[in-house]
Amino acid sequence: MKKFKLGIVGATGAVGQEILKLLEKREFPASEIKLLASSRSAGTEVEALGGVHKIEETTPESFSDLDVAIFSAGSDNSVKFAHEAVKRDCVVIDNSSAFRMDTSVPLVVPEINAGDLEKHQGIIANPNCSSAIALMAIYPLHKRFGLKKFFASTYQAVSGAGAMGPISLDQEVTEMVTGAPVPNAMPSVFPHPIAFNLIPHVDQFREDGYTKEELKMRNEARKILSLPNLKVSCTCVRVPVYRAHSISINAEFSDPVNLPDAKKVLSSFNGLDFVEKVGENVYPMPIYTSEKENCQVGRLRVDHASDNGLAFWVTGDQLWKGAALNAIQIAEEMIRRNCLRKIF
Ligand code: A2P
Repeated sequence: MKKFKLGIVGATGAVGQEILKLLEKREFPASEIKLLASSRSAGTEVEALGGVHKIEETTPESFSDLDVAIFSAGSDNSVKFAHEAVKRDCVVIDNSSAFRMDTSVPLVVPEINAGDLEKHQGIIANPNCSSAIALMAIYPLHKRFGLKKFFASTYQAVSGAGAMGPISLDQEVTEMVTGAPVPNAMPSVFPHPIAFNLIPHVDQFREDGYTKEELKMRNEARKILSLPNLKVSCTCVRVPVYRAHSISINAEFSDPVNLPDAKKVLSSFNGLDFVEKVGENVYPMPIYTSEKENCQVGRLRVDHASDNGLAFWVTGDQLWKGAALNAIQIAEEMIRRNCLRKIF
């Protein structure tokens, strides 16, 4: 089997570290792995994939000898380096929001729209974490009943804010429980205390009162499902959970819905587990979805507030299906389709 030279931009970050774990777990066919980050970490040694690797500073030349690079270093660095990589014949799978709505860039959840990969022009975008997890449950229902619109409320874990998110939660919990300030505490990455609190604010506010994160749910759902007029309203909330996002969804469909068919399509969808035992307290929860490749869906009900509506609850590891895993699945799918190369 052909092996690929792979770069990871942001290898020291929260998502970068998960990429390293998953590459090993999934036995990704890499002949060489290059770990890239900022000049701050250049020279640091990292143990991964059975060897010791030196972190290198990211420069345009970093990509000259690579087949593919997975970027998880924020939008600014994607804008700065992705085209440099493509110029050097290195395909980019980008975890940031920089290119997601660019019409020449496929935005892909492999279980849903893998075919879009074949149209790539060097850059492929990985969806926002909450969008990817929500769509893993919405898509099979859409295929069966025809989606008209949905309302979503997210419950987003602190690790979604980067490596500093869990550190902020730890510091605040320690201070609140012991009553003593943590020595050398780092400034929190959140605008308010997150310990024992909920913050209905993820990403920046727009003029219409929604946050950018909330608009990602609408815009990315439209693109991934190829439903350009889909109506979506979303509220994003940061919660004091370490890992795995949860999303409460109320969706309305064109066709009459029924629970047996809904359960059937959700249970048989690749990458999704239907987790529900009414009367036995069995339903998806973030604590049991952490470090799981599959998302989980449950609490399935007929929505009493709409015609042909279903209410359900989805959880998924946002560092995995919402970022690292989905990016690796994109690369694996491109290998299967023989399009992990510049094709323009
Ligand atoms: P570094 O550790 O050198 O700062 P997180 O989202 O968890 O905060 O991680 C962000 C990632 O993006 C880190 O790996 C970080 O590397 C990387 N990064 C930050 N700035 C740059 C840059 N200018 N070039 C390449 N990688 C960067």
